Parts: sequence; C-alpha cells; structure tokens
Amino acid sequence: MPSAPPSVPLHIAIVMDGNGRWARQRFLPRLAGHAQGVESLRRCVRACVARGVQVLTVFAFSSENWSRPQEEVSGLMGLLAKALAREVPELSRDGVCVRFVGEKSSLSDGMRKGLEQAERLTVGNTRLVLNVCFNYGGRWDITQAAAQLAARGEVITEASLHAAMGLAHVPDPDLVIRTGGEMRISNFLLWQAAYSEFFFSERFWPDFDEAALDEAIACYGARERRFGRTSEQVRQAGAQPEALRA
Ligand code: IPE
Ligand code: IPE
Ligand code: MG
Repeated sequence: MPSAPPSVPLHIAIVMDGNGRWARQRFLPRLAGHAQGVESLRRCVRACVARGVQVLTVFAFSSENWSRPQEEVSGLMGLLAKALAREVPELSRDGVCVRFVGEKSSLSDGMRKGLEQAERLTVGNTRLVLNVCFNYGGRWDITQAAAQLAARGEVITEASLHAAMGLAHVPDPDLVIRTGGEMRISNFLLWQAAYSEFFFSERFWPDFDEAALDEAIACYGARERRFGRTSEQVRQAGAQPEALRA
C-alpha cells in the first residue's frame, strides 16, 4: 500500500448529503440525484486511492431514511442493487475491499445476499477499505454492540464496546466530511467521531469533485489535533496523531 504523507487523513468518512436538492435544482426527480450520487462516489473512491487514503467510510442510507416516501426508498434499494452488480467487479480490480456496516437483518434476503457476496468477493483487497454505512445509525451501532456484550455476559469497557461495533476493523476516522451545507451529524459515527476533524461543504454530493476533496484534505492538514492535550505538548512531542492518540 503506498504510504501517504502524514497530512493526508488515513481514514475519511463522508455524509453524502444533497442529492435531492441537486436534482431539484435541475427539475429532475430526486432519484436522478441519487443516481448521480453513485457516480460521485465512484469518482471519490478513485481519488482516495490515488491520494493514499486507506479507509473511506460513506453514509449511504440511515436508520431514519426509511421514513422517506416509499417510492424514494424503493428507488434507493434498486440503485444499490444495480451499483453492486456494476461496480463491485471494478472495485475489486482496483484493490478495494468493500464492507457494509449497518443492520442487515431487516433487509430483504436478496439484498442481504448481494451485500455479503460483494464483501466475500473483495475481502482480500488491501488498497482501500470502503465501508458503506447502509441502514446504519450511530445509536443502533452502540446499542447493538452493548447488546452483544450483554448476551455474551462480557464486561462493558470502552475497548470491548469498540470491538463489538461496526467499524472495529478500521481505526477511527481522522476526517469527517459532510456535503450539502447542513452542519449536523444525523446519527452518523457517534462513537467513532469522538476526535475526528470536521469539514462541512456547501456543495451537493453529486458536485463534490476531486478539487473539493483536495480542499477538505488541505484543511485537515492545517489543523492541530490535540486529543485533550495542550498545544505546547503537541508541539513538543512533534507528534503524529498516531502517537497522540495512544
Ligand atoms: C443524501 O441526499 C442521500 C440519502 C440520504 C440517501 P438527500 O437525499 O438527503 O438529499 P437532500 O438533503 O434532500 O438534498
Ligand atoms: C444523512 O442525510 C444520511 C445520509 C446521507 C445517508 P439526511 O438527509 O438523511 O439527514 P437529515 O435528515 O437532513 O438530518
Ligand atoms: Mg439530506
């Protein structure tokens, strides 16, 4: 895996918001915005690979998005199925390991099998881990992790809870980006974003291109991550975030 300069975040997480408004601006149905959102994701994955980002986590469908109009929900499910069939072979060729994070049990059998097959097909890839948060909510994740530990009679500690959560296979996100102009977390990575840097973009997700990604990365590179310490301590240590996190 090519190692990126330390100013490049190892793990980027994105709330891909603004598809509906992007479509409305063009007098198109909302689903056209979601379809364009898939294209934007494909471009973003390539850009992350090229910049040496090792983990990309995207919010694709929240626990709360089921309350949207039925037509939009089923359209989104259809888009995911289509994207799986079309994109997974190419992602695999590019060395991307795809993981789906979220509650799978309430999805249709066909959908669940599709997700699991994509995970199986790409499991050995090491260039980039792409976590797709689908039917995901931060509250769901914390609750299901606590329930797992309780069922196994295990002690609840930060470490044991973390290990039972949906993103236990990757380090916490360094940078969380939200497109679409809203400045809220909308039940995304409530646990894992404890010390992430945040970047909010006015652009709608379909318009979030390489230049916008580079702007977010540059902004991240100029931040000082203190993890509770003082600025002086950080500078004395000359430390990388990895050293400070410990
Ligand atoms: C984000 O775009 C995609 C999903 C939530 C599935 P939106 O559909 O929320 O777009 P806006 O916020 O209505 O513009
Ligand atoms: C968050 O966007 C969920 C995804 C991007 C998948 P929403 O559009 O659902 O968030 P709210 O409702 O504006 O907070
Ligand atoms: Mg939205």
